[in-house]
Amino acid sequence: MGSELARAVQRGEGGPTKIIGLFDEYAPGRNALAEELGRNQEPAPVEADTVAELIGLTGMQLIVECASQAAVTAHAEAVLTAGKSMLVMSSGALVSADFMRKVMSAAEASGASIYVPSGAVGGIDALRASKALLEEVTIVSTKKPIALSGAPGFAKWENVDITEPTVIFEGSAAEAVGLFPANVNVAATVSMAGIGPDATDVKIVADPDSPGNVHEIHAVGRAGKFSFRFENIPHETNPKTSFLAVLAAIETLRSISEPGIRIGT
Ligand SMILES: NC(=O)c1ccc[n+]([C@@H]2O[C@H](COP(=O)([O-])OP(=O)(O)OC[C@H]3O[C@@H](n4cnc5c(N)ncnc54)[C@H](O)[C@@H]3O)[C@@H](O)[C@H]2O)c1
Repeated sequence: MGSELARAVQRGEGGPTKIIGLFDEYAPGRNALAEELGRNQEPAPVEADTVAELIGLTGMQLIVECASQAAVTAHAEAVLTAGKSMLVMSSGALVSADFMRKVMSAAEASGASIYVPSGAVGGIDALRASKALLEEVTIVSTKKPIALSGAPGFAKWENVDITEPTVIFEGSAAEAVGLFPANVNVAATVSMAGIGPDATDVKIVADPDSPGNVHEIHAVGRAGKFSFRFENIPHETNPKTSFLAVLAAIETLRSISEPGIRIGT
């Protein structure tokens, strides 16, 4: 996702945003991306050896995280304390109330902001607007078994031949993030927009015939009943990531950096 986002920024799709530097703990990956980006940009983005170096680069205003929950947990406080804003894709990391308190106080102290794009779903605006009136929010995520493989919550299913839609998990968003760290950022974002990680119900279904990553959100409250369904097409260069999640990150970058009208915010 980070590579796709960087390419989109170079094509100008992120508004007046400019890439100053990049970091990935996987050195061959970051070498290749730095070389590719450097061919189209003068001066070339700096290939940082550490997040601290990235934060300190001249002109740096915003750090875009497209890495992992662990990366957010390890670095968000330092980024925000340094007064740099942060766009977070691994939103599951923010579900911990203790961690959220820490990053919020770092952001408040420095004046930096934390941006969490709507990611692989929509409807976040309606949940946010009506959160005080919401009574229940449910999200059902259906994926092919291969898309869940590797998650701690899928361990007992790894060698099971799943031939029909099978419920793998039912519980709160707070419980889901640790068990399915790479799969429930959507649930985390929905829960933070609405009634919170403990009150948001999550169901994860493995379906070999699923047409992709499908997310269904149902919300009931005193402002009405809302249902949203997203049948996402995987990104062509990274089938683990929904195309919409990349587009949402680009649109967030554009809306942060470009002055003008804000629609649906
Ligand atoms: N919010 C959403 O809707 C949404 C949608 C899709 C993906 N995501 C999340 O975004 C993140 C990136 O997704 P992806 O598909 O690009 O993942 P990916 O595994 O393809 O790439 C992640 C990259 O980050 C690097 N990385 C991981 N941890 C790191 C750390 N601690 N420090 C430095 N580099 C680190 C890895 O080396 C890898 O190159 C994941 O956490 C994923 O779950 C969120």
